[in-house]
Amino acid sequence: MSLHDAYHWPSRTPSRKGSAIKLNKTLLDHLKELEFQFTVPTDLLKRVTERFVSELKRGLTTQPGDIPMIPTWVTSCPDGSETGSYLALDMGGTNLRVCEVDVQGNGKFDIIQNKYRMPQALKTGTREELFDYIATCVKKFVEENHPEGDKKLEIGFTFSYPCKQASIDDAVLIAWTKGFDIDGVEGESIVPLFSDALKRVGCNNVTLNAVLNDTTGTLVASNYTKPGTEVGVIFGTGCNACYIERFDEIPKLHGYRLPADMSMIINCEWCDFDNQHVVLPRTKYDLAIDADHPRPGLQTYEKMIAGCYMGDILRRILLDLHENGVMFANQDVTKLRDPLAMDTSVLSMIEVDPFENLDETEQLLENTYGLTTTEEERHLIRRTCELIGTRAARLSACGVCALVLKTKKQSMMIGTDGSVYNKYPHFKERLEAAFKEVLGEEVGGKVITTPAEDGSGVGAALVSALQAKGKALTKEALDKVRK
Ligand code: BGC
Repeated sequence: MSLHDAYHWPSRTPSRKGSAIKLNKTLLDHLKELEFQFTVPTDLLKRVTERFVSELKRGLTTQPGDIPMIPTWVTSCPDGSETGSYLALDMGGTNLRVCEVDVQGNGKFDIIQNKYRMPQALKTGTREELFDYIATCVKKFVEENHPEGDKKLEIGFTFSYPCKQASIDDAVLIAWTKGFDIDGVEGESIVPLFSDALKRVGCNNVTLNAVLNDTTGTLVASNYTKPGTEVGVIFGTGCNACYIERFDEIPKLHGYRLPADMSMIINCEWCDFDNQHVVLPRTKYDLAIDADHPRPGLQTYEKMIAGCYMGDILRRILLDLHENGVMFANQDVTKLRDPLAMDTSVLSMIEVDPFENLDETEQLLENTYGLTTTEEERHLIRRTCELIGTRAARLSACGVCALVLKTKKQSMMIGTDGSVYNKYPHFKERLEAAFKEVLGEEVGGKVITTPAEDGSGVGAALVSALQAKGKALTKEALDKVRK
């Protein structure tokens, strides 16, 4: 029996006024099937969350599990006294940024930055091409902003991919995510790879002093401007969270002499939740995305909820409808066959199409993919986007609710960033509705996501400042406390 067989056809309220649709029988039957596959009812949300809590706990022990719960070695959030100027480098899924942040204390800062789009080809090129590109961007920034040339500069690197960290100044890539697939980096420390590239491009006055995940930067930066923030979450191209944990709740770190009440930011790296396929309701489209992925079997949760995949889910559904003779009959669907043809912004645009006849959707499908549609078909497509977007938000909520339950909090302030959170229509409302379904009105209503301060820039600078104060532990510091 499949997971879904256990559930009755859910009665759902449409996510917007006006999405009530009159469809012919064929379209309606297909829509019902999609509704069935993509709807996550409350009891399933609760079961996913329950499993999530046990996996978060397991990750803190030495037992093998799906969620690695990586110690970041950042042992404190800023207390407002941090000051100074720090360089920060941010390699996300789409852009590369080099920044200089003037940390002024008490939640204040100034930032200058250069932003570069990561060329698509770099994501599957060689490791030298990748790191030389990054190092060249750093060099350009330093030459523009520090023309004196000989000043020694330290840089904090926000590297938003799952890494094992033996200290704040080391990070070994576990596996590429977000469409990157470059040989010779997985299993390697990115520190020498980046430092060697700096030398190759002749940028000799910059040294790497901290590596952090974007969620860590988000938490630290949000806590700096909104003290009390305890969790950092990214809902973007990828998806992940970090939170503050007491040292005595992290059994796998008992090889260190550190005070039991000391806290540490833990990078959950929850994109791998349910790689064992116990609880997530995967559809045939999720299975196909996984099978065609360079890392099949990994990042199960992320593949269902992150911006990197939502467009591809829609693309595969549309192709499926075509192959079943439901849509685009006798039309050339070649453009739709390109695996990179559709990104999440397409779903966003369709969800916010203001016209009753979905005129903008019609233009979009015609101009971008050369496909003509009837009004009825467009309503089915829009409803499909709502289903994908709603499922993403509701399953995303499970991770957050699991952190609330794991830490036994009655409320939580969450610094939140990422393109899906910031730009995807209704994502925040759908997320918050699911918090209440899982945790109840009282607690769920006090789980507050707020748009984060620039985590990868300001956060990286603040982590460098914490490192300078001995609150982000280097290899040298850790050697002294290892039992
Ligand atoms: C990466 C995480 C990152 C998240 C958000 C995931 O694909 O594995 O390290 O925090 O994306 O950017």
